[in-house]
Amino acid sequence: MIFRQLFDATSGTYTYLLASRRGGEALIVDPVLEKVERYLKLIDELDLRLVKAVDTHLHADHITGLGALRDSTRCITVMGEQSSVDVVSMRVTDGDALRIEGLELEVIYTPGHTDDSYSFRMADRVFTGDTLLIRGTGRTDFQNGSARAQYESIFNRLLRLPDETLVFPGHDYKGDTVSTIGEERRWNPRLQVADAAAYEALMNGLNLSNPKMMDVAVPANQRQGFAQEEIARLGWAVDALQARSLIADRQTVLVDLREPAERRKDGAIPGALHTPYSNLQENIQHGGMLYELAAATNRDLLFYCAFGERSAMAVRAAHDVGLNSARHIEGGIDAWKKAGGPVTID
Ligand SMILES: [Fe+2]
Repeated sequence: MIFRQLFDATSGTYTYLLASRRGGEALIVDPVLEKVERYLKLIDELDLRLVKAVDTHLHADHITGLGALRDSTRCITVMGEQSSVDVVSMRVTDGDALRIEGLELEVIYTPGHTDDSYSFRMADRVFTGDTLLIRGTGRTDFQNGSARAQYESIFNRLLRLPDETLVFPGHDYKGDTVSTIGEERRWNPRLQVADAAAYEALMNGLNLSNPKMMDVAVPANQRQGFAQEEIARLGWAVDALQARSLIADRQTVLVDLREPAERRKDGAIPGALHTPYSNLQENIQHGGMLYELAAATNRDLLFYCAFGERSAMAVRAAHDVGLNSARHIEGGIDAWKKAGGPVTID
């Protein structure tokens, strides 16, 4: 496995780059905007292909690199379903699995620092975001934080992992890089409390000042969505109602770009061809399945995904190879469902 812990000294943020092998798919956790060039260089040097960029929560102390990484690599952006960000490609919830080639992360909802805080667990390690820090815990006094929820997240979720599980936090300000669940249970001063009420009293007595970047970072981080307006302005988008009549007239090939787990969870639009976004590039090129299908049948491609971000990027890729009638359903299956469109669960 390739595993890199990267540090942004300005905000004290840890960013993690993961891949199962050289030449393979990579995933990044909590990238910082100012460091994006550095990540891209490292990804290139390690011969990796970035396919997913994940934020553990909406950050208040730095601007996320999610949007910039997506714009340069066309990767899938991922956050929790509670996040107040405008658009991400994929939203996850407790119990989901986040997958790239050769690696799987278990998604654990750990609210408290914010109401959209998640932890991500692999076999021997857990990425705890700002829920559990080394000898500390993330503050709970803004962004819908809750000391009580954090107590539950830490004591009933994270501390139930095996003692030897490595803890990789979202921040450190003292120079520590890694800990273990057992070590934190024993030595983390915030966790030496009798019950949730005692934890709440401790957290509510901290009286911290707001992060310097907060007024800039939070609004910036809420606007990460790929500009679907631009795709619409070019005439490459349809709304759910238009999509229904297009699908009915057989001139259109509907393509679902989501992953199998998303289709199982949220259902699919009937009659769609399934091609995960991660395979799009090979399918859309000359000789690829989608390219040849569109060319041979003279039918129009109509892409959709969860919220319209992956499909908007797919439309651009299709137009780049000359498939000039390709369009997408703006807002994805989310918008389709809100418009009363039928869905099948398989
Ligand atoms: Fe945070």
